Amino acid sequence: MSAIRVSGCIPLKGEISIQGSKNAALPMMAAALLHKGLTVLTNVPRIQDTACMMKILEALGCSCIRRGCSVFIDAGEIKKTQVPQEYVRSMRSSIILLGALLGRMGQGNCCYPGGCLIGARPIDLHLMALKKMGAVIREEDGIIEACAGKDGRLKGTEIVFSYPSVGATEQALLAAVLAEGVTIIRGAAMEPEISQLCGFLNNMGAVICGAGTKNLMIQGVRSLRDSAFRVEGDRIVAGTYGAAVMAAGGDVTLKGVRPSALKLPLALFSRSGGKVTVSESSGRLQATGIGCEKEGRIRISSKGPAGPLALKTGPYPEFPTDLQSPFMAFLAAGRGVSRIEERVFEGRFGIAGELEKMGALIRLEGKTAVIYGAGSLKGSAVKAADLRGGAALAVAALAAKGETVIEDCRHIERGYEDICRDLSALGAGIQWIGE
Ligand code: UD1
Repeated sequence: MSAIRVSGCIPLKGEISIQGSKNAALPMMAAALLHKGLTVLTNVPRIQDTACMMKILEALGCSCIRRGCSVFIDAGEIKKTQVPQEYVRSMRSSIILLGALLGRMGQGNCCYPGGCLIGARPIDLHLMALKKMGAVIREEDGIIEACAGKDGRLKGTEIVFSYPSVGATEQALLAAVLAEGVTIIRGAAMEPEISQLCGFLNNMGAVICGAGTKNLMIQGVRSLRDSAFRVEGDRIVAGTYGAAVMAAGGDVTLKGVRPSALKLPLALFSRSGGKVTVSESSGRLQATGIGCEKEGRIRISSKGPAGPLALKTGPYPEFPTDLQSPFMAFLAAGRGVSRIEERVFEGRFGIAGELEKMGALIRLEGKTAVIYGAGSLKGSAVKAADLRGGAALAVAALAAKGETVIEDCRHIERGYEDICRDLSALGAGIQWIGE
């Protein structure tokens, strides 16, 4: 199993480009199934989850080619409607293929994804939305069998979400694009990745209004067209590297993300003692579904141990749960008493125990973690148990005196192209130490 070795306490310096967004690319790749033809996505990150999505699409009958960061998906012919079990188990988000298969083929099968280390992660909202559109769903022995009713076409309707689930909103969008009539989604997730998906689908010929708000309206169409779209930079990867600067100190510029998608995390870096400047002027235009915004540059510098923060995770525009662990890591190495309330996934304090091995002082009180800034951490042997928690251990290790070895880094590879490449380009002492 791959591991990472980090020699800490080296300030970071320099400029790096941020990879394309995992959470934006995956639903777009699933959506390519809706079109009987070619979809080209550029800036698709080279990570395990996008490789897994390509394998699933191929198993269903698509032809997929990757050239650098571009992925070409030809979904001219779909031969199967069953999402292979082994992939659903390794990548929960593949559940959204159900909506795409129902829209395109009138039927789809998928196994129940089950829970994971960060929480139970039910899919009741996904299934409610599909049922509301007329899908008949049978669940037997952990397999979900969905069928679009008599004429094989889902029907537009009003779907009201009691919680703005990202995955369920994507599921409903994919199902609604080719449905008959108008679908209205109320209480939709407003994450930047949803706006991106709407922009991408509209570029394919879908008719979606309201991107970036909690009410989406989709006028179903009969077919889509060949299209090309650029995936935007990954705000969570950018936020993780920002946390790395707060942990290790230094002066770093991150290129290729939309600063507006990271408003709250950037404000918190400043509140914690970092200096943040953004410039959107030199970036390329990025379609967001709510118009065009510029990708830009984010410069983050930090001189000393970070100051304390109080934060609560929540649906966008609140603080992203995916950055909770990286923030915990730099706050543990900072000064003062910080409080983090995790309100999205119940099991997401898994790294607290690993951070304690590095000298962190953390008290867990239900959904809240109280972090007593230790001023500095010490190198240790730790284990990555999930994707963002694993990246957060690398953040902590950058602030630790001596050497840290992080085991089980396959989780990190699910979402970061090459965390060692990126951080060592900024001068960090970090490297892979083999299988
Ligand atoms: C997506 C992101 C993940 C991010 C999360 C929240 C992808 C591939 N993953 O995950 O990185 O951390 O959004 O921003 O984009 N819930 C239900 N019933 C449902 C669906 C969700 O109760 O049917 C609950 C979940 O258990 C969780 C909360 O809603 O407590 C948020 O989940 P959701 O927004 O759906 O996250 P994901 O789409 O799984």
